[in-house]
Amino acid sequence: MPGFDTLAIHAGQPPDPATGSVVPAIHLATTFAQSAVGEHKGFEYSRTGNPTRAALETCVAALEGAAYGSAFASGLAAEDAVLRTLAAGDHLVVGDNLYGGTHRLLAQVHTQLSVSSAPLSDLAAVEAAWRPTTRLVWVETPSNPHLWIADIAALAGLAHDRGARLVVDNTFATPYLQSPLALGADVVVHSTTKYLGGHSDVVGGFVATNDPDLAARVAALQNSVGAVPGPFDCFLVLRGVKTLAVRMDRHSANARRVADALAGHGAVGSVFYPGLPAHPGHEIAAAQMRGFGGMVSFTLRGGEAAALKVAGSTRLFTLAESLGAVESLIEHPSRMTHASVAGSPLAVDPALLRLSVGLEDADDLLEDLDRALAVVG
Ligand SMILES: Cc1ncc(COP(=O)(O)O)c(C=O)c1O
Repeated sequence: MPGFDTLAIHAGQPPDPATGSVVPAIHLATTFAQSAVGEHKGFEYSRTGNPTRAALETCVAALEGAAYGSAFASGLAAEDAVLRTLAAGDHLVVGDNLYGGTHRLLAQVHTQLSVSSAPLSDLAAVEAAWRPTTRLVWVETPSNPHLWIADIAALAGLAHDRGARLVVDNTFATPYLQSPLALGADVVVHSTTKYLGGHSDVVGGFVATNDPDLAARVAALQNSVGAVPGPFDCFLVLRGVKTLAVRMDRHSANARRVADALAGHGAVGSVFYPGLPAHPGHEIAAAQMRGFGGMVSFTLRGGEAAALKVAGSTRLFTLAESLGAVESLIEHPSRMTHASVAGSPLAVDPALLRLSVGLEDADDLLEDLDRALAVVG
């Protein structure tokens, strides 16, 4: 089996046999010629299947160690497909720290499902939330925005013992740093908008699994609902994935320096980074991840007012939603990415800021944060 970096560059994308092109073609065709009714070269209509999308699906599935992968138009479209495989009345246990859009999808769209939230690092809390109708445990690890860590193998064991499945949102870790399927998870979902794309220029999503029945249902939903990414979007994610390993190494190294600097700053309350030995999930993260990633969050001693001031004072860290790209971003989750969880048990501390630490020179990033923190320090 080729190594991760080799798969990232080559899986699903051999040189084009017709032209020798070393990058996959962007196949814009919506339809494909048939030599006789039902006889074709594997593609009929681009919602159902497209060669550029097929290359992306083969590549990202290979990186996740999955036999099957389906690409979607966004991370939420990928999540929606997985949720549509459940029946009305089915119950899910989700993490008590969750991307706000996932909460909104569950609370406002999939109202036929019932949902409980629990701290997924605490197996007793998951058991307490369990019902006879529980079919799925849904975990982000590290979670957005708090970077809580859950033990994937333990959650998979608990879910499987009770006849349920485990879905892992692997957006923050990426397949380079964490392999949920190898740890026992049944499904991996991604917002490929983030690290897999890696350049803040494409929105996309992905579902990977080794379960042939589930994969067939997700592929059928992809075709029936039609939330597919366009060929150019697929190309951009494929191009991003080629450098995923080197980017994640640098993201992790820069984030570690930022986390260490914040941990020693007087204006900062708590720092959340799974690489810090004081992080409650550090040991599990060290065991199940190959690095700690590029996301750091922290609270300000001065509360929300201080957080808002700092968020508005950085120059190199751009104040913007999203994450996982080459440029560093700062955001205020409770008013921005997680505004939709306000008033729910998943509400985020308004003193919290989230950083997506990019690939700039770490010294410049530290200087920028230092200058911004001086505004409240
Ligand atoms: C952890 C996580 N999962 C899923 C999503 C949704 O992805 P998208 O914005 O591509 O729909 C996001 C978006 O921020 C996210 O952070």
